[in-house]
Amino acid sequence: MVPEAPTPEPVLPDPVLPDPVLPDLVLPDPVLIVLVGASGSGKSTWAASRFRAAEVVSSDTLRGLVGSGPHDLDASPDAFTLLEHIVQARLARTLTTVVDTLGTDPTRRRRWLDLARGAGLPAVVVVLDTPAAVCRSRNAARERAVPARVLTSQLASVTGTVPALADEGWDHVHHVRPDADADAAPPAPARAGTTPRAEGPDLQGLRGVVLQLSRFPADGALLPWVTQMALAAEAAGLAGLALMDHLVQIPQVGRAWDPIPEPWVTLGSLAAVTTRLQLGTLVTPITFRAPGVTAKAAATLSALSGGRSFVGLGAGWWDREHAAYGLAFPGARERLDALEAGIETMRALWAPGTKPYAGRLVSLPETTCYPRPVGSMPVLVGGSGERTLRIAATLGDGCNVPSDEAGLARLDRYLELVREHGRDPGEVHATVLDLPVVGRDRDDAWARVERHRGRTPTAAFAARHHAGTPAEHRERLARLAGRGVTTAFVAPVGLATPEDVLALAPLATAFG
Ligand code: UTP
Ligand code: MG
Repeated sequence: MVPEAPTPEPVLPDPVLPDPVLPDLVLPDPVLIVLVGASGSGKSTWAASRFRAAEVVSSDTLRGLVGSGPHDLDASPDAFTLLEHIVQARLARTLTTVVDTLGTDPTRRRRWLDLARGAGLPAVVVVLDTPAAVCRSRNAARERAVPARVLTSQLASVTGTVPALADEGWDHVHHVRPDADADAAPPAPARAGTTPRAEGPDLQGLRGVVLQLSRFPADGALLPWVTQMALAAEAAGLAGLALMDHLVQIPQVGRAWDPIPEPWVTLGSLAAVTTRLQLGTLVTPITFRAPGVTAKAAATLSALSGGRSFVGLGAGWWDREHAAYGLAFPGARERLDALEAGIETMRALWAPGTKPYAGRLVSLPETTCYPRPVGSMPVLVGGSGERTLRIAATLGDGCNVPSDEAGLARLDRYLELVREHGRDPGEVHATVLDLPVVGRDRDDAWARVERHRGRTPTAAFAARHHAGTPAEHRERLARLAGRGVTTAFVAPVGLATPEDVLALAPLATAFG
């Protein structure tokens, strides 16, 4: 994970659970879900196919814990005491909670809804609209069937409950019908390599998902490790690979003595083994190298890779690494001045010919830079400040902001500035830095949250990093695309192996 600056706690949960049954239902996460349905209507089946076992609070299961089994009705009072306690405790921690009971008691529903509201969580009712005959036949086939008259009375009370739901204040009342439910299964993540970008080599192909590497757990074998990661990114159909540019590993990612290789050298090695990935930095601090030297490195990378390089640039922020390497670290205004002049210098050197350059901020007696870059050289400016965005909109080819709500608001501002300066928003790269927790399934995502959250409360960490499956992340990124994002630089939390990269294959198609 690579925040270039501390990110604030997210306030609102993002909707990230596409419903495989009714594609138009997107469940928020975290969320309270209250199931309503008679015995045999399929409540537990619906919940189990979508949620982790720990997220489903079931009166049957609790009867089995405090009584002789799931159907021990004598244990109901104890089971419901526990159920209320668990629901309250989970919601207080803003953990997704699915309440699996008949759902027909209005007083209980009211209490759960109030608890969700108190925790700031969205609250949804899911009604299993399974026809009575289907419930009856499923019930009859069960080892321990509910007596027929009990089921009849359950069906009646579900029928009576449904009209009341509309006025209770739920964010959404969703009906699941058995036809659609029959083949309800979570969408299978696409296998690696099945979703390659169709267009093949693309000289300006930054649109899509770019893998950002920020930690390098290569165990002493750096070249094989970065090579395998890059090949996996290519196999997964990702648009590119970006390396963080820091002299010392940053505390947001790891320990100061963890390896953090020089990015331009490393990208040169990747140019040799890849054929499609766009290669660049996210982001190079303008304070590290004279801008002409960065221009030279990027042009060489472009020549080596056949026009697949880009440059992420920022004003730098970490005083420690500057001091450690004997580099000046002036104030913010001066660094932003340097950023502005630096981009001008680079563009002058990349331009055809060797003629003298006299621009707004920079004059050069000649602009001799060979090998010249092949094709275009996108310059992405990282940072959300007003002046940074203005530099991105006037001199850059794109911006890079965090993928959270605050970042997206800055992305809107960037596009506004682009328009103000008479540029076509369709011709710039509106990019975000995204730090997801990606799990094979919900259980794996949760295990990763627990492994990496440190002292951050679980729910807050999961929300901040949108913990979820590849399919869920694809939906989320597709929504970002709908908001004008062209490229997501994705740096999965704890990314360590080529398998972790291959798991990102479903994300590759999120930007169309
Ligand atoms: P469930 O056990 O999911 O129902 O399914 P339920 O609503 O939670 O029932 P109670 O309230 O706990 O008693 C009941 C039976 O129906 C089958 C399941 O495999 C289970 O045996 N079922 C469920 C299907 O055959 N198809 C479905 O789509 C859902
Ligand atoms: Mg059940």
